[in-house]
Amino acid sequence: MSERKKVRIHHLAEMKQRGEKIAMLTAYDMPTARHFDAAGADILLVGDSLGDNILGHGNTGALTLDEMIPFVRAVTRGTEKAFVVADLPFGTYEVSPEQAVESSIRMMKLGQPNAIKFEGGRRVARQVKAVTDAGIPFMGHLGFTPQSENALGGRRIQGRGDGAYEEMLADALALQEAGAFAIVLEMVIEPIATKLTKALQVPTIGIGAGPHTDGQVLVWLDMAGMGDWSPSFSKKFGEVGAAMRDAATDYVAEVKANTFPAAEHTFTK
Ligand code: KIV
Repeated sequence: MSERKKVRIHHLAEMKQRGEKIAMLTAYDMPTARHFDAAGADILLVGDSLGDNILGHGNTGALTLDEMIPFVRAVTRGTEKAFVVADLPFGTYEVSPEQAVESSIRMMKLGQPNAIKFEGGRRVARQVKAVTDAGIPFMGHLGFTPQSENALGGRRIQGRGDGAYEEMLADALALQEAGAFAIVLEMVIEPIATKLTKALQVPTIGIGAGPHTDGQVLVWLDMAGMGDWSPSFSKKFGEVGAAMRDAATDYVAEVKANTFPAAEHTFTK
């Protein structure tokens, strides 16, 4: 059996060429990153969904770059083989190419991911070009873009209506042209995600975009059954939340009953 190598951008491009699906998951801390890396995930994304899912902000918009960096560093410390991508939070790249490069360099230096991701198509193409010109690998994000939830009129499925494909293709080509090595397609109807995947040279990673994208990504809490709610496009592959609650319930009961610690957990000399 060949030993698994550190995943690099060219491996992701080769996977698209040979039709091997790319498996990506979010991760926000060191132990979770270690488990997902050992499970063979190709990409770990420290998404700005951190703000909502871990820090309890209630949305992605409130998260700051400085708040995010220690989580990215924890994930990179826990990862050996997977390719680590870090999101730039809302407000840290939209103003200008200079702002995007400064934020990306800060994230790369302090968080040490392998690449940066931020949201948008043609409207951020100059930022993407500046970031890739600075030698920083970049992943795009189109379709439903949570940082623009207010402008998009809520969590709405994307790609519907006349001209939607042409608009999304123009955005995707602008990102590809500016140097993006892959593009996330979130909540995009399957026929449009499939057409985009065929039209692009770079891999597409779908989340709620059907089975024909080059890869898939899920928020790990949805994937592992950690949260109370998960979107309809997600699937629960485990019951981690229930397992944690059961373990904590047993611990509390044993402490109350004074059956823990037992002799084998006790130093006598
Ligand atoms: O922040 C995030 O977790 C994401 C994924 C949903 C793709 O951007």
